[in-house]
Amino acid sequence: MSAFAHVPASKPDAILHLNTLFAQDQSPNKVSLGVGAYRDENGKPWILPSVKAAEAVISADLTKYNKEYPPQPGYPLFLKSCQEFLLGEDHTAIAEKRVASCQSLSGTGSLHVGMCFLMNNYAGHQFYMPSVTWPNHYGIFEKAYGKQSKYLEYTYLFKDGQLKIDFESMKKDMNNAPNESIFLLHACAHNPSGIDLSKDQWMEVLAIFKAKKHVAFFDVAYQGFATGSFEEDGFATRLFAREGVEIVVAQSFAKNFGLYGERVGCCHIVHTDQNNAQLTLNLQGYMCLIVRQTWSMSPVHGAYIVQTIGQDPELKKQFLVDVQTMSSRIKKMRQMLYDELMRIGTKGDWTHILTCIGMFTFTGLTPAQVEHMKVKHAVYLVTQGGRMSMCGLTEKNVAYVAAAMKETVENVK
Ligand code: LMR
Repeated sequence: MSAFAHVPASKPDAILHLNTLFAQDQSPNKVSLGVGAYRDENGKPWILPSVKAAEAVISADLTKYNKEYPPQPGYPLFLKSCQEFLLGEDHTAIAEKRVASCQSLSGTGSLHVGMCFLMNNYAGHQFYMPSVTWPNHYGIFEKAYGKQSKYLEYTYLFKDGQLKIDFESMKKDMNNAPNESIFLLHACAHNPSGIDLSKDQWMEVLAIFKAKKHVAFFDVAYQGFATGSFEEDGFATRLFAREGVEIVVAQSFAKNFGLYGERVGCCHIVHTDQNNAQLTLNLQGYMCLIVRQTWSMSPVHGAYIVQTIGQDPELKKQFLVDVQTMSSRIKKMRQMLYDELMRIGTKGDWTHILTCIGMFTFTGLTPAQVEHMKVKHAVYLVTQGGRMSMCGLTEKNVAYVAAAMKETVENVK
């Protein structure tokens, strides 16, 4: 008998498992609206033209892009590009040398590095998650902080099912938290709900963070992808970094560069000590230590792509157009789905399909309705909030999806 015979079956990941089920589904009408990955108007994966062009630059010069081990924190031009995409080229935090950066493995790796950093260097400070969040946040927290550590939650949406932010309760939770707590915040395009704070609300949150000296831990997985503008989507991060709040950032390039499988990202710590370059180096050094002990060095190919685009004005211009292509197709699909639901007389209020932002929408469909959508119509959604990835909608399947939703809300509670 195997020494490992006691190992039980693991529960499949609630999001990723949908891809397996979808692949097995024989229905000719099947539609994948589960895992968040961009699809073009034909429902196919899309390699950004700017990414293709950058790969041509890279493969034409394999003496420069030579697949050697990278420097521990990542290539300097990669880190520069990451900071510029995140904060803008002329941000004061960059000028004041307050930004410590270390390459990482997409969003998850960057969250891991950031949480391990806080666990080891800011222990005893209470960690807060939004009351609705990406389920993997819980697992990453447990890995970094250990099973015995407990995070608390701050209010995000109304608890009665309204698809709106309960801002008064959120502020109350932030104000009632012990000083110097850590709050995980979605910088833009909240996953899973698609419901974001307004700029005015961010200003109010900033005031609380300054007064309470809270640390803001930003998950930045959708910058540029949500509105088509890095500046708009970077509003909160840029504001907090400018206004003297200590921030940790998990930056992913999966969605905005379409570099899902490359696993490229960056963890940043923006401290508040102006011109203390030694502290910046110390923070970077600590992140390098975590990376070294976990996966040693981060992979280079995705980093080459990000830095090639980030440092070439023409490629960067093309990239910003590509990002807009994706975000405007999503906005168009929001409108088409909404219009179709209205045209066929679907009961209920569906305005949130228009007002949500980014890749996802909480449809409000119940777990039973999500199951029915899958079994009866071969339309795959995430159970949590009936989350729909808007990227899976196309002009060809939107009417089918709307009809499935109508039938489902009429017949399943
Ligand atoms: C999602 O939420 O669907 C994506 O971020 C993919 C993932 O890793 O869960």
